[in-house]
Amino acid sequence: MKKLLYIDSCIRGELSRTKRIADPIVEKLSSRYEVETLTINDLNLAPVQFDEYSRRKDGIVSDEALCWANKIKNADRIVIAAPFWDMSIPASLKTFFELCSLFGVTFDSDDKTCFGLCKAENLLFITTRGMAIKSGYPLEQATPYIKALAWLWGIKGFEVVARDNFDYLPQEEIEKEIESAIKEGLEIAETF
Ligand SMILES: Cc1cc2nc3c(=O)[nH]c(=O)nc-3n(C[C@H](O)[C@H](O)[C@H](O)COP(=O)(O)O)c2cc1C
Repeated sequence: MKKLLYIDSCIRGELSRTKRIADPIVEKLSSRYEVETLTINDLNLAPVQFDEYSRRKDGIVSDEALCWANKIKNADRIVIAAPFWDMSIPASLKTFFELCSLFGVTFDSDDKTCFGLCKAENLLFITTRGMAIKSGYPLEQATPYIKALAWLWGIKGFEVVARDNFDYLPQEEIEKEIESAIKEGLEIAETF
């Protein structure tokens, strides 16, 4: 069975509306993929600082970071679920990427530029936003970032399921939006 890596960055855990959308989509994908979940909340991550950087320059990477990098490299598909925080993604998810987006593992370089080494053909990003900011708006800096990272890793396919205005819509409307996002994601899952 092919492998799917689910990076769950829904920091609010069971309170998360993003997670309510992502979980049934991943559940459906589990009929075709062996799913491995990395829950960012459980990883207890510290930002990359000078020591980490220096060790890395000397070719020393923690076993943990190398293990995460290899999971990203070898996954056939990747799903990332994260809320929209400070116009982008939660810092802990950014930290996770800085720790395990590794030269020589997830990407490499020739004498001109970088290129990806990851196996996945497709990455699905699932998110919800507080304000009425749609995917593609200049203020929306999460999707372009995840898309650019997928490019760095060599992943060509990119899908997004996003809903917005969740901090302002009445609960009834939010429930409808969650339902329609799940439906959209389940349709994507058919061919993902
Ligand atoms: C720390 C924090 C930062 C946030 N920053 C933004 C923001 O910059 N723009 C925005 O539209 N919503 C922002 N929000 C609102 C969330 O994007 C929104 O509530 C989202 O639906 C949360 O997803 P969740 O229910 O999966 O946690 C923020 C919420 C939190 C807790």
